[in-house]
Amino acid sequence: YKRITVKSLIEMKQNGEKISMLTAYDYTMAKIVDGAGVDVILVGDSASNVMAGHETTLPITLDQMIYHASSVIRAISRALVVVDLPFGSYQSDPKEALRSAIRIMKESGGHAVKLEGGKEIKESIKRILNAGIPVMGHLGLTPQSIYKFGTYTVRAKEEEEAKKLKEDALMLEKAGCFAIVLEKIPAKLAKEVAKSVSIPVIGIGAGNGVDGQVLVVHDMLGMTHEFHPRFLRRYMNLYEEMTTSISQYVDDVKSVNFPNDSEQY
Ligand code: KIV
Ligand code: NA
Repeated sequence: YKRITVKSLIEMKQNGEKISMLTAYDYTMAKIVDGAGVDVILVGDSASNVMAGHETTLPITLDQMIYHASSVIRAISRALVVVDLPFGSYQSDPKEALRSAIRIMKESGGHAVKLEGGKEIKESIKRILNAGIPVMGHLGLTPQSIYKFGTYTVRAKEEEEAKKLKEDALMLEKAGCFAIVLEKIPAKLAKEVAKSVSIPVIGIGAGNGVDGQVLVVHDMLGMTHEFHPRFLRRYMNLYEEMTTSISQYVDDVKSVNFPNDSEQY
């Protein structure tokens, strides 16, 4: 395989080839996702929900993100691996942001970092980029700010917020980000933003007028079954398939059907 780089993603946008991105937080899943040909693997702070069972993304630590990212890195041979800077690791000042990004790059071997926000974190983004670390932006619904928003509903439906989002996207491009994630905003706005910048815009709940799509892998495989937003397409119902298989195993153990004669020494 030819490895995907931040440059290949920009070329994909130029050639009109859509970019596929999924999350992964561990070795086994990352091996499958990479092997299946996904272009970008996101070690998202959604690990806080999916892996650790927290209600929000806020509790996950930088050390925990590094643990997840290093597991993913050991599995991949083609995908570009982007790692979320977790809440509290970059908001207080640009030096802290750079220190956190450096820890991710050195200790996990990740290829790039992602930060939530626009002009509020401009200096931090510039500082990280100056150190040679590629940065992916993230605008729209930014789950680290959930207590400010109050809900996980669609963002930027009003003109004022849409205007700020468009300005932030231009700022991220100008600062030197290699891509931007747009989460849960109107498709029309997302398309407009994707047209206004030359870097790839990757959407989640942002319609098909953007340059690529991202989903949480456990959601698209149907392992999580209590979460069903409109934007989520479920490709499997693994929750049911796994439950059926595991119940079968329990029955087999109870009935001494497992192990059979050929499954022992
Ligand atoms: O953490 C995450 O999974 C994300 C994606 C939803 C973009 O940030
Ligand atoms: Na995230």
